[in-house]
Amino acid sequence: MTLSRVAPATGRLGLLMPGMGAVATTVIAGIMLARRGLAAPIGSLTQLGSLPMRRGDASSEVPMREALPLAGLDQIAFGGWDLFPDDALATATNAEVLSDKHLNLVADELRAVRPMSAVFYPEFVRRLHGTNVKTAPSKADMVTQVREDIRRFMRDEKCDRAVAVWCGSTEVYREPGPVHATIESFEAGLRASDPGISNSQIYAWACLQEGVPFANGSPSLTVDIPAVLELAKVRGVAIGGKDFKTGQTLMKTLIAPGLKTRMLGVRGWYSTNILGNRDGEVLDDPESFKSKEVSKLGVLESILRKDKMPELYGNISHKVRIDYYPPRGDQKEGWDNIDLFGWMGYPMQIKVNFLCRDSILAAPVVLDLALFLDLAQRAGMSGMQDWLGFYFKAPMSPAGTSPEHDLFAQHERLHDTLRRVAREQV
Ligand SMILES: NC(=O)c1ccc[n+]([C@@H]2O[C@H](COP(=O)([O-])OP(=O)(O)OC[C@H]3O[C@@H](n4cnc5c(N)ncnc54)[C@H](O)[C@@H]3O)[C@@H](O)[C@H]2O)c1
Repeated sequence: MTLSRVAPATGRLGLLMPGMGAVATTVIAGIMLARRGLAAPIGSLTQLGSLPMRRGDASSEVPMREALPLAGLDQIAFGGWDLFPDDALATATNAEVLSDKHLNLVADELRAVRPMSAVFYPEFVRRLHGTNVKTAPSKADMVTQVREDIRRFMRDEKCDRAVAVWCGSTEVYREPGPVHATIESFEAGLRASDPGISNSQIYAWACLQEGVPFANGSPSLTVDIPAVLELAKVRGVAIGGKDFKTGQTLMKTLIAPGLKTRMLGVRGWYSTNILGNRDGEVLDDPESFKSKEVSKLGVLESILRKDKMPELYGNISHKVRIDYYPPRGDQKEGWDNIDLFGWMGYPMQIKVNFLCRDSILAAPVVLDLALFLDLAQRAGMSGMQDWLGFYFKAPMSPAGTSPEHDLFAQHERLHDTLRRVAREQV
């Protein structure tokens, strides 16, 4: 990877979110509150983390914001699309993630953030029926409309740059097909409104054409198709994905490397969740759940290598369940039962009961992805940003390689890359 000296983060950065539901509005409100000093951006490496650096013979921990020319929270302007027309205050209030105590402090600012109309072919998200949607003769025309939206937003908000983070619903499971193979096949597919081209792919295509880096926070097939990878290279734009690593998978990628480090065996890992937000409702559709399941299942196989240690990890039964349970709203509860074994094969069990808050865990991930993608773009790092795997359940990796899932190895990789960018500054 060749890096260039990074241009300073002057001017305004547009943070565009296709899908302005619970996660997006929690990000927006949190940033608005943090920049007024009314809430702490906990969980964000860009805001609270530091970078271990060597200076001469000594090594020191330099705050990320000093080590790197990251955009500041004050420079961010918010925008996005949704199939419901509610402003960010109404959506955040309905989502019941943040209390009125917090929302009231930034109510006017939130009310001013209104979603642009969405690209929505309903066969990709079958549980939702929105009214704030675009109409166009073809999918190619949809791309054109999203590109016009981006330009208008940048003009109105006086943005110098923008990044996009997909915070929209999980789409039905799809394998890449011939239409996703090349730029030419994809563009022909757009003109012919090929049924294989999803809503999220239309946004991604429009963003890349506009030079806007794009990260995919859902498990849908979006930027991980050859045509988009190729376009990102050709247009010199950074992309990342997929599926924010938050609750249960975060725990899995913390615990599994620990068990492996102690040479403890694993026979089974049963994970189940209840959640009652709109995300849970969408995932209640088996086809959308399938996207999530595939994204969640790869984690253990990759950390606990059965080919390397068959006697410890050769026969793991791994199950993941998600149940939509409305009373819980965004306050997901996850249970894990781990059947492990130790000395002489004697069995043991670990039970994890994580009472988490989904959007509270996802919000700092969105902020960090936005600021790091903007940094990468200014450093001339185009195409797949696999060093951002730390933030994803199903990290992208170059063709023919397996992604790293171990959170600590991912953290090292993130730091190594950021140190290289930081060195370009001196
Ligand atoms: N919260 C977490 O911890 C977490 C973790 C990993 C992944 N995710 C993913 O992040 C995404 C957002 O989660 P959420 O809890 O905010 O869900 P949400 O249902 O509250 O918000 C998603 C929004 O996307 C909108 N949407 C759907 N299709 C759209 C389209 N084509 N164009 C524009 N808007 C569209 C919906 O109307 C909805 O408002 C989901 O895909 C979820 O699976 C969340």
